[in-house]
Amino acid sequence: MTDEVSPGQSFSLDGEDVPFRLGETVIQAATRAGRYIPHLCWHPEFAAHGSCRLCSVKVNGRVGAACTVRAAAALEVESDTEELNAHRKTLLQMLFVEGNHFCPSCEKSGNCLLQATAYQMGMEGPHFEEFYPDRPVDASHPDILLDFNRCILCELCVRASRDVDRKNVFAISGHGIQTHLLVNSASGRLVDTPMTLEDRATSICPVGVILPKRRGFAIPIGQRRFDAKPVSEQVEGGPE
Ligand code: SF4
Ligand code: FES
Repeated sequence: MTDEVSPGQSFSLDGEDVPFRLGETVIQAATRAGRYIPHLCWHPEFAAHGSCRLCSVKVNGRVGAACTVRAAAALEVESDTEELNAHRKTLLQMLFVEGNHFCPSCEKSGNCLLQATAYQMGMEGPHFEEFYPDRPVDASHPDILLDFNRCILCELCVRASRDVDRKNVFAISGHGIQTHLLVNSASGRLVDTPMTLEDRATSICPVGVILPKRRGFAIPIGQRRFDAKPVSEQVEGGPE
């Protein structure tokens, strides 16, 4: 991507002009302009993954993922509409029943992008029947806990460990409802990988799967990132 701003070029997002740089996607340009488009698997530091579909927008009337659609002059993008937000709420409800998300007892509560996005979309309950999958935690590592129950398969840890840490600690395996995150070691346990607290993968998880041990409640509930302001008002807050 180049930093060159397309001179005088902008697209319309919910009726307001958003300038863009050549090569930027709709969500990159919108984020730079301080405009919120819901997302889970997109992160400003990484190439788009395009899997969660939370960022679905209408581009000239057709549905596309804002994290993969390139910005172009005169596009008409709709994002904050009743129809798209209802679709996002349904996706969130499916994610909540597919895993085991018990927000009141989760140490990521208040710092969790899934929880914050659910609040943003007005989700008040799961709507669907919970699957309650059986996913044992991995507490083998001296400094890092893995609670697979909360994984939303965004692959950010896979990308961070592979592309930034150069360690390839995580992978996604299986198909359909059996798709799951696994640890790349002979034993399948985190203790048998080179992962450390300093790795980018340790701090990238948008939900509460990858947790540094002994730090969980250092910041009390009520004083955490999304306790202060909703996610839509923290667009320029940098990486989640
Ligand atoms: Fe995404 Fe976290 Fe699951 Fe990794 S562990 S795939 S970062 S939700
Ligand atoms: Fe675009 Fe997940 S944020 S598909």
